[in-house]
Amino acid sequence: MKNTKLKALTLLSVTAALAMTVGCGSNSASDNTGSSTSGQKKLVLMTSADYPPYESHKTDGGSDEIVGFDIDIAKAITKNLGYDLEIKDVDFNGLLPALQAKQADLVMAGMTPKPERLQNADFSDIYYEAKNTIVEKKGANLKTAADLKGKKVGVQLGSIQEGDAKKMDGLNIVSLNKIGDIVQELKSGRIDAAIIEDTVAKGYTAANTDLEFNTITSTEPAGSAVAFPKGSALVGDFNKELKKLKDSGELDNLIKKWFDTNK
Ligand code: ARG
Repeated sequence: MKNTKLKALTLLSVTAALAMTVGCGSNSASDNTGSSTSGQKKLVLMTSADYPPYESHKTDGGSDEIVGFDIDIAKAITKNLGYDLEIKDVDFNGLLPALQAKQADLVMAGMTPKPERLQNADFSDIYYEAKNTIVEKKGANLKTAADLKGKKVGVQLGSIQEGDAKKMDGLNIVSLNKIGDIVQELKSGRIDAAIIEDTVAKGYTAANTDLEFNTITSTEPAGSAVAFPKGSALVGDFNKELKKLKDSGELDNLIKKWFDTNK
């Protein structure tokens, strides 16, 4: 009896171990052997598609596509380098862990190469800059970091805005997974303000006319760069291609396409 139990247990743990190995194999993105229709090698891009105009879901009559500035850059570069591109959407807070677990070859999510992140990922050159803003209900009069003292302030979980908020004096910080959720909390009055980058605050306040934003200068600007697993050979290739996009004016065209609000 004892013996059978033991056997059953051993079998169970072997199965579990096997399942784990198999699981890891299929999750690993970076062997670049994923089959694709074109026969080209494939790169897996992970993003957090709650961040228009960098990346967001475009839903059109039943279809759901992730589009944006980051996505256009990723498509241009991977095309030039001869890779197919697969895009996966996860919460922002899960991006760097996924990269470390080699579940993605690259992350593009308006992500800023902060010193503490450099321990867990390698970054490309910066391709766009943004500044922090305070988003509030129109007329709430929260314009500086000092005005936020004692207020409930929404930030994205794992973002540098969360880190910036922690450095400010006396904030009641509410960390949420998605920018859209922060905006909803703000509209319903459950939080007083949010710290969001100007590039993204513009779109959300244009779509929600009960909200407005004020740029703050007391925090550092936030540049966006591509993140890779540590030691990835792709960093050099991407930097070369980024430079080409800059020099040819193609990057400027994409900036106009996605960030020009006077359209
Ligand atoms: N730039 C900020 C950071 O790196 C925020 C990025 C948020 N990106 C997103 N796709 N939600 O922490």
